[in-house]
Amino acid sequence: MIETHRLTVVEHPLVQHKLSYLRDKETPTVHFRKLANEITLLLTYEATKDLPTEDYEIETPLEEMTAQRISGKKVAVCPVLRAGVGMLDGVLSLVSSARVGFIGMYRDEETLEPVQYYSKLPADLADRDAIVLDPMLATGHSSAAAIDAVKEAGAQSVTLVCIVAAPPGVEHVHEQHPDVHIVCAAVDRGLDERGYIVPGLGDAGDRLYGTK
Ligand code: URA
Repeated sequence: MIETHRLTVVEHPLVQHKLSYLRDKETPTVHFRKLANEITLLLTYEATKDLPTEDYEIETPLEEMTAQRISGKKVAVCPVLRAGVGMLDGVLSLVSSARVGFIGMYRDEETLEPVQYYSKLPADLADRDAIVLDPMLATGHSSAAAIDAVKEAGAQSVTLVCIVAAPPGVEHVHEQHPDVHIVCAAVDRGLDERGYIVPGLGDAGDRLYGTK
């Protein structure tokens, strides 16, 4: 695992194996969707590793013991529409009590700038750790704008979980949001002239939903 305090690249063999199938252009939509959620589940395991725990007393069938449970703030998971929704079940299968907020963001294909068209976020974001889901951290502009929206709604603690990142995206998010921890499966070489991550996996939304 490559880890700084602000970027974690999860190099676990299961993550890398599944990522290779996601990258393969021959992988059909039905498998792509399943793999995206499976990778997200594994990334969520890393993204939540510092959630605080507290001791409490339980009785096993054999004896009393001091057990641990997650304490304090709970989780809000905020997928960026539309491709982030393809990661949502992966988080919820681990953190089933999380609240869910949606941020509608599309990229203007000419300017590559993000345009927000929808936002529906939990009212108590200030009391929750927010996990923003955006599978492709390309220029970083839409992820940074989504994080702006989550913070404006009150979030104090934000983790960005993406599947593939590119160096300009990591830099942009950290310039705009130095406090945000990014968790991803890979940091690729760069961006092509259309703003796609290379080698990447193509358009995550199209591959998730079969729209091309
Ligand atoms: N969005 C995608 O879906 N893929 C990329 O490579 C970049 C942005």
